[in-house]
Amino acid sequence: MMRYLSLALLASLIAAVVGSGSSRSTNITMTKYNALFGFGDSMTETGNICLGSNSTELDALTCTHPPYGMTYFGKPSCRWCNGRVVIDFTAQALGFPLLPPLKSQGKDFRRGANMAITGDCKEFLKKSLFQFGGFGGNDYNVQLLELALTVQQGMKNTPMIINAIVIGVERLIALGARQIVVPGILPTGCLPLFLSLFASSSNEADLDQYGCMRSYNRLTEYHNTMLQKQVEILQRKHRSARIMYADYYQLYYQMVQQPQKFGFSNPFEACCGAGGGKYNFDITKRCGMPGATTACRDPSARLSWDGIHPSEAANKFISDGWLHGPYCTPPILG
Ligand SMILES: *[C@@H]1O[C@H](CO)[C@@H](O)[C@H](O)[C@H]1NC(C)=O
Ligand SMILES: *[C@@H]1O[C@H](CO)[C@@H](O)[C@H](O)[C@H]1NC(C)=O
Repeated sequence: MMRYLSLALLASLIAAVVGSGSSRSTNITMTKYNALFGFGDSMTETGNICLGSNSTELDALTCTHPPYGMTYFGKPSCRWCNGRVVIDFTAQALGFPLLPPLKSQGKDFRRGANMAITGDCKEFLKKSLFQFGGFGGNDYNVQLLELALTVQQGMKNTPMIINAIVIGVERLIALGARQIVVPGILPTGCLPLFLSLFASSSNEADLDQYGCMRSYNRLTEYHNTMLQKQVEILQRKHRSARIMYADYYQLYYQMVQQPQKFGFSNPFEACCGAGGGKYNFDITKRCGMPGATTACRDPSARLSWDGIHPSEAANKFISDGWLHGPYCTPPILG
């Protein structure tokens, strides 16, 4: 899984600049940040994965098929969501434009982003906001789904995954970053993907009172707790930086526990999926694949968009919780 993580880091160095001083057209006074840089996996994807792909590869990325993007962009935007992801909402709240949809100048864009990182611009980076992650979600997916490891076996690899994230944060600091948000991961045991595969009658005892799998959530908690501890250590070590731990877990779990409080129903049912039932998730007919080309009637009333990634509505709650607290320590705008 190191390979996956380092690939993710490499891919992200190709860079996801969501907004920068040069491309920002509006309101300089509105934000205390020059730019926003996002590094991450599919939760943070805003189009880069599609930039370097040929048509065959694009076709294989389910996020390039309807109904992805239906709610905000009106068409697939190479985001794993019906609309905006968390970093999009963060960008908008800080007064930055969203990353423009796929364009032919993709290569120039990437060069620009690389220059921004390697160039002599420490003053600029000092006032930029970095979101580093979430990383780890894919690493556990590979272990649990592709390698069929147990939760206990997965836990053995957690220190290595956390260590890779710490090294990444330290590299950013060495480059000049001073404001860094480090997100954890979602409660795996509450996701339709994992529930549909592993929540069978044989392990009913593993389900908690809300219907999430305890063992899988323990793995996520283990990862998140270790990450948060390391973020605290990094913060003590780098006093000129502000390193924020951002929590997906507690808020997502809260939305599972009290969906109506957030305007949601059926928190375990993928809005876009196939197979019906409690989870509406079929791994062979995932959202965007043949057989799963339509969404539920009202995606804004759902927590899970595709059984793996949260809906746009959920992402908005998460972004708010990170910007203003209490789901980011300290809050991004705190
Ligand atoms: C710029 O930001 C300030 C402070 O938030 C706000 O009062 C003003 O309306 C904004 N101006 C524009 C053009 O968006
Ligand atoms: C697309 O890229 C893959 C390698 O990732 C290659 O095998 C395939 O032939 C390419 N297809 C086209 C149409 O260029």
